[in-house]
Amino acid sequence: MGTTAHGPSAFRLIRVVAMTEPSFVRTTRTFYDAVAVDYAERYKDQLDTVPLDRALLAAFAELAGGAGPVADLGCGPGRITGHLRSLGVDVFGVDLSAEMVALARRTLPQIRFEQGSMADLDVPDGSLAGVVAWYSIIHTPAERLPAVFAEFHRVLVPDGPLLVAFQVGEEPLHIAEPFGHQVALDFNRLSPDHVTGLLRQAGFQMIARTQREPEEGENVPQAFLLARKTKD
Ligand SMILES: C[S@@+](CC[C@H](N)C(=O)[O-])C[C@H]1O[C@@H](n2cnc3c(N)ncnc32)[C@H](O)[C@@H]1O
Repeated sequence: MGTTAHGPSAFRLIRVVAMTEPSFVRTTRTFYDAVAVDYAERYKDQLDTVPLDRALLAAFAELAGGAGPVADLGCGPGRITGHLRSLGVDVFGVDLSAEMVALARRTLPQIRFEQGSMADLDVPDGSLAGVVAWYSIIHTPAERLPAVFAEFHRVLVPDGPLLVAFQVGEEPLHIAEPFGHQVALDFNRLSPDHVTGLLRQAGFQMIARTQREPEEGENVPQAFLLARKTKD
């Protein structure tokens, strides 16, 4: 039996990876691969309409201030990554979706974008000056969020800031056939109190808990939690 990179061993490895990947990861990637171009077009100017969101990103950028690279996790087409770069942040993006990553690279060729999972980052311990997860923890099942926040804590420098954005609510929003594509996905709405509790358990200290009312095109309040990694 051959054991080269293109032989049966490689085939077995690919099968093992595919079999061990949780189904929500596959569903999320498939959804965003399908909608990447339409999503990017729909949200390309959205940040211009929400000064409070920009203020929080500016505060985050200042707190992250030059102590190393910053990661935008679940970066999608890179609109937040690009905004942070415009504020002078040394930022790179990570996303599950290959189509999103390809789009982000085309749009912002000066920024590094990698395909990967926020739950298992290819980044050394204590190496990031900041982490942003902007509407990207919303597809992770509730029981897996503690492990995601533990991963954010692992990669941050001591005192490094974390900014998490999500929709507030109890029930997920199920979106089917977005922009006419034959895909569907749950968008989890979360309780700021619950997420704050999970962040504290993971070793974060809260800096600010912001909730704003829905703007045009939004149905529920939006939460923005800014925290910092406590020293180990
Ligand atoms: C609602 S979009 C937000 C994209 C971007 N942050 C923005 O605000 O435009 C959610 C993004 O998170 C990504 N995502 C979801 N779960 C992820 C995970 N576990 N690891 C990496 N990316 C993830 C999706 O592929 C998608 O691009």
